[in-house]
Amino acid sequence: MAKEVWQPGNMLYPIPAVMVSCGRKGETPNIITVAWAGNICSSPAMLSISVRKDRFSHSIIKDTGEFVVNLTSSELARATDWCGVRSGRDYDKFKEMRLTPQESQKISAPGIAESPVNIECKVKQILELGSHDMFVAEVVCVTVDDKYLDEKGRFDLNGADLIAYSHGEYFKLGKKVGKFGYSVAKKQGKKSAPKKDKTSAKADNDQPKVKKDKATVKKDHKQSKNKKDKKKRK
Ligand SMILES: Cc1cc2nc3c(=O)[nH]c(=O)nc-3n(C[C@H](O)[C@H](O)[C@H](O)COP(=O)(O)O)c2cc1C
Repeated sequence: MAKEVWQPGNMLYPIPAVMVSCGRKGETPNIITVAWAGNICSSPAMLSISVRKDRFSHSIIKDTGEFVVNLTSSELARATDWCGVRSGRDYDKFKEMRLTPQESQKISAPGIAESPVNIECKVKQILELGSHDMFVAEVVCVTVDDKYLDEKGRFDLNGADLIAYSHGEYFKLGKKVGKFGYSVAKKQGKKSAPKKDKTSAKADNDQPKVKKDKATVKKDHKQSKNKKDKKKRK
C-alpha cells in the first residue's frame, strides 16, 4: 500500500454544513452556511463556528454576540447551498429560500423554523486564526421539532434526514453501523451495559445529553395526557 504526501489542508470530513442565522434588532435577519463548525465542550455546552471577516454575517455576529446554528436536512440542502453562495448584502435569504424566522427563546437572533434543531448560542470569545475568525460560543438553548419525538418523548435525531458535507459535496446519512459503546457491549440476552472503566466513563460525558427544560417538560406531560385522553375517546 502506498500513500501520496500532500500539502497541509482541510481534510477533516465528513462534517455538518449548518445554516447559521443571525440578525441585528430591527434589521432583516441573515443566514450564512458554515461547514467549519463543531462541538467543543460538553459542560458547559459549547460550539464554535469559523467565519471569514469579509462575510456580511461576520460583523452581525461580532456586534450582537449571538447566532443560531440550524441543523440541515436533505429537504434543506438546496437552501443550505444557496445561503452559502449568496450574500445577505444582496438578498433577503429567508425570503428567497421561503424560510421562516423563528423567535428564539434566549437570544434576539431568530432561528429557522424549517430546521429540525435550532441551537441558540452566545459568543464567549473570538479567536483570530488567519483566514477565519473562530467564534467560540456557549449553547444557551436548544429547540427541536416535536415531529421527531416519540410517545416516550425520545428525540429521533437520526430520523430527521440530516445531511453531511464531505469534500465539496452534500450527502444523506447512510446505514447505521453501530452505536456508542457497541464494540464492548455484551451480546443480546446478557445484561449489556458497557463496563465503566475510567476511559468509558470519560467517554460517556461526550454523549448527547440535551435535557428538556422544566417548562417544556410540563407542557409535554400535558400534551401526552391529552394524547392518551384522545386515544381513550377513540
Ligand atoms: C457548504 C458551504 C460551507 C461553507 N462554510 C463556510 C465557513 O465555514 N465559514 C465561512 O466563513 N464561509 C463558509 N461558506 C461560505 C459562506 O456561506 C458564503 O460566503 C455566504 O455567501 C456568506 O454569506 P453572508 O455574506 O450573507 O454572510 C460556506 C459555503 C458553503 C456552500
